[in-house]
Parts: sequence; C-alpha cells; structure tokens
Amino acid sequence: MTVAEWWNRTRYRLYAPVYDWFARPFERGRQRAIERLGLESGDRILLVGCGTGMDLEYVPDGVTVTAIDVAPAMVRRTERRGERLGLDVDARVGDAGSLPFSDDAFDAVLLHLVLSVVPEPGEVVAETARVLDADGRVSIYDKFVPAGTEPSLLRRALNPVARVLFADLTRRLDPLVAGTGLELRDREPFLGGLYLVTVARPADSALPTRRRAAPG
Ligand SMILES: C[S@@+](CC[C@H](N)C(=O)[O-])C[C@H]1O[C@@H](n2cnc3c(N)ncnc32)[C@H](O)[C@@H]1O
Repeated sequence: MTVAEWWNRTRYRLYAPVYDWFARPFERGRQRAIERLGLESGDRILLVGCGTGMDLEYVPDGVTVTAIDVAPAMVRRTERRGERLGLDVDARVGDAGSLPFSDDAFDAVLLHLVLSVVPEPGEVVAETARVLDADGRVSIYDKFVPAGTEPSLLRRALNPVARVLFADLTRRLDPLVAGTGLELRDREPFLGGLYLVTVARPADSALPTRRRAAPG
C-alpha cells in the first residue's frame, strides 16, 4: 500500500466521530441529488464511500441498500443509522475502486462527496458503470471545476492543503465519465457553483437497452 492510500484510509477514520457536524452544510444538495434519482420501493441502491450514511435520511421506504466504505468506523455508523431508520442496509468495508459486486447489480448508485476524495476517481466511475443496471442511474454530488472553465485562484490556492486533509478541489467530472458508457444529464450547480449535482445514465449508444425481467 502506498503512503497516499494509507492516508486516504486513515483520515476518514479519524473524522468519523465529527463527520456529520462538518457535512451538515451539504444537506440541501444531498437531498436534491436523491430527489432527482426518483427512487422507488424495490430499487436496489449502492452508496459508494458511504461515510456515516447521511444519504439514508432521504431514501424512501422499501429500497434495498448496500453501502461500502474503506473506513470501518464509517461503515459502523452507516449500519447504526440504517437500524435507527428501519432500513434494510448491507454495509461493508471495501474499496470503491474494486467493487465486490456483480455486473448490473444495482438500479441506482450514489457517488456523493467521494469522487473528490478517492485517489483514482476514474476507476470508481468505471466500477460504478459496471455494477449499474442498464436502466440504472447514478447520482453524482461533489465539488468539481465547472466544465469549460479553469480552476479559480481560490481553488488552486486552497488545494495543496485541502487535498491532503479532505478532498481535491480541482477535479473535473467530464474526463472521469468519458469512456465509461455513462453520460451526464441535467447538471445543477450548488453552493455558488462550487458543487455540482447531476445524474448519469448508461448512454444508449454504449450499452444495450434492456429491462429487468418482471418478477415471477
Ligand atoms: C467526504 S466522505 C463522503 C461520505 C458520504 N458519501 C457523504 O455523502 O456524506 C468520503 C468517504 O469516502 C470514503 N472513501 C475514501 N476512499 C475510499 C475508497 N477507496 N473506497 C471506499 N470508500 C472510500 C471515506 O472513508 C469517506 O467515508
């Protein structure tokens, strides 16, 4: 394991006890992102880099939730939140860059505040595309540089510290999605354009159109 990988695994273990307090300002964007997915009872959803499971507060009853995070302290918090909310949650420790799930296993995948954190975000998007059903959708909510612009001076000035402590402020979303078979739809800027909420779906041209078989 490289030092960067070790630190990535360690830092969010340290933040776990205070994470909810720091993440509170991002709740409106989170709620909006989940609304846009149009989740329904029976959907199989995956939270990648689930953290303390704050997304669970906004998912409807009847969905089946799987959650994965590299930090065991985060996974335990997601489990506890799921129990408190009465949700069916399978939370496990694992690496978002190598998801331990079969192809097409999920109707929706949530990538919230994680693509700016992981060392190899392109691998995470590719893995997301693999485990997503052909009719599925991906909610992406994070702090990307707006498409077609350069990182602002403020982003560049803060990034050397920010990327070590919590997340990279200078990542672009479009190159991460390119070539994965997903395409981005309807982007909504949040928090003065610092954050972006968007939904990605398998591009019709890249993946076969197929519907999940009706039960029975
Ligand atoms: C900023 S937090 C976001 C948590 C949650 N998604 C949310 O919206 O509040 C980033 C999370 O990604 C996790 N993480 C970092 N690298 C990861 C990896 N390679 N695989 C899985 N989880 C990872 C961290 O442990 C942390 O819980």
